[in-house]
Amino acid sequence: MDLKEVLKVADKIVFAKTGQHLDDLEEAVLRGTLERETYKQIAKDFDCSESNVRNTGSKLWQIFSEELGEDISKSNFRAAMERLQNANFFNFGQTVNHSFNICGESRHPPDIPNSYQQNENSYNTKQSKNQCYDLSEMPDLGAFYGRTPELETLTNWILQQRCRLIAITGISGIGKTALTVQLVQQIKHEFEFVIWCNLDSSPTLADFQTNLIEFFSQSEELDLSAPHPKSLPLIKYLQKHRCLVVLNNIHNLFSSGELAGKYKLGYEDYRTLFKQIKELSHQSCLLLMGWEQPRIVTEVKCENSVIRTLQLTGLDIVAVREIFRDYGLVEIDDIEEIIQRYQGNPFWLKSIANLIQELGGCATEVLLNETLLLPEEVKESLQQQCDRLSETEKQVLSLLVAENNPVNLVKLLENSRILSSDLLNSIQSLLRRCLIEQQGNCYTILPLIKQYLASLNQLYK
Ligand SMILES: Nc1ncnc2c1ncn2[C@@H]1O[C@H](COP(=O)(O)OP(=O)(O)OP(=O)(O)O)[C@@H](O)[C@H]1O
Ligand SMILES: [Mg+2]
Repeated sequence: MDLKEVLKVADKIVFAKTGQHLDDLEEAVLRGTLERETYKQIAKDFDCSESNVRNTGSKLWQIFSEELGEDISKSNFRAAMERLQNANFFNFGQTVNHSFNICGESRHPPDIPNSYQQNENSYNTKQSKNQCYDLSEMPDLGAFYGRTPELETLTNWILQQRCRLIAITGISGIGKTALTVQLVQQIKHEFEFVIWCNLDSSPTLADFQTNLIEFFSQSEELDLSAPHPKSLPLIKYLQKHRCLVVLNNIHNLFSSGELAGKYKLGYEDYRTLFKQIKELSHQSCLLLMGWEQPRIVTEVKCENSVIRTLQLTGLDIVAVREIFRDYGLVEIDDIEEIIQRYQGNPFWLKSIANLIQELGGCATEVLLNETLLLPEEVKESLQQQCDRLSETEKQVLSLLVAENNPVNLVKLLENSRILSSDLLNSIQSLLRRCLIEQQGNCYTILPLIKQYLASLNQLYK
């Protein structure tokens, strides 16, 4: 393999995606990978930290995966480049800038044989020639560690069990978005259309539907007629094509100050969309992430349903070690204790690691004693979630803050003036928001949330 030529093509691919040429470290990572060096060796040669090299690698593999339409990692980058060379892609490299981005994101160049277009890791579904991805709203969250079982579960639900509506839930910062980014990268080749939508601007159903239909119809004429008088026009596209639609930050469809999952005024027709996605037959899948979920999803508990919920819990010790390593924190003995205290929440742990890094190594001692640190960005994130609670949920939380041990319903009823049905609904809603946990018949509040709420003493004494 001609290393110089390969790096030239790699540079063009990166430039086509980012508008920037490879920098020295990126080139060193690619060169080292092609020469079968470990990240450690590359870091030593380049005289920088291994975590820096890993992060650079992980960004590059994401770019190559998106541009080449297959999962690229350090272990298969060389093989992928060899395949491109054999497929005469390197001549094509001359025109790479013009030929990519045919349809939304990255497309396969037309003169690459089908054998190359076939995703080697794919499951048994057929690869379509017309694949359109719009991942322009998908965030790049940097290095990603662990979560192998969760990725396997979701892949199985989507590709084998053909689930139609999947919610990924968990408290803010637990990694819903990061996990879904990985998942999309791994399975997008199985779909004709893949689109990532952030619902931060709370689009109405009409706008949302029109946008999706425009994307699915590409240059064809829009067909806004419904397949059946009672079904939404969007359903026809979900029936005709195998589409993966990611809806991130779906809580923007729901009311603040109410129990979880109550639609905002003017957004109730999303209920019909989710109902039809569940009930009408089609070949597509919607992935939902956010602090609240539609009740049609949270109410389903049946194992064989086409609707599923994956509630994320914390990262495992190996993944957390990697995160700490990225912040130069390598020798922390009591890491299990720290993971437990911060529930393995990657956002909380990253914020703590960042705080310690900024304050200098001596802050590690604080991390290791009993104190629960509350960095400003964690407070902000918890505030955003807590601001959405209903009054009765706030009352229930303030009851739980006052308790040192898990409390059962009888005691909660005794201690409060809340009607029993309101109390039960509030507990259910807090569980759905993942702000409290159930232990047998008792309920408890997460330690960090307790710490945060206790600090807001005017509201939660
Ligand atoms: N598996 C992981 N490995 C490394 N970092 C991770 C992992 N999962 C999440 N993170 C990091 O933790 C932070 C929070 O992750 P993410 O934004 O995915 O959380 P979230 O659950 O979507 O939060 P929110 O509900 O606020 O949107 C990000 O900086 C992300 O990069
Ligand atoms: Mg998110």
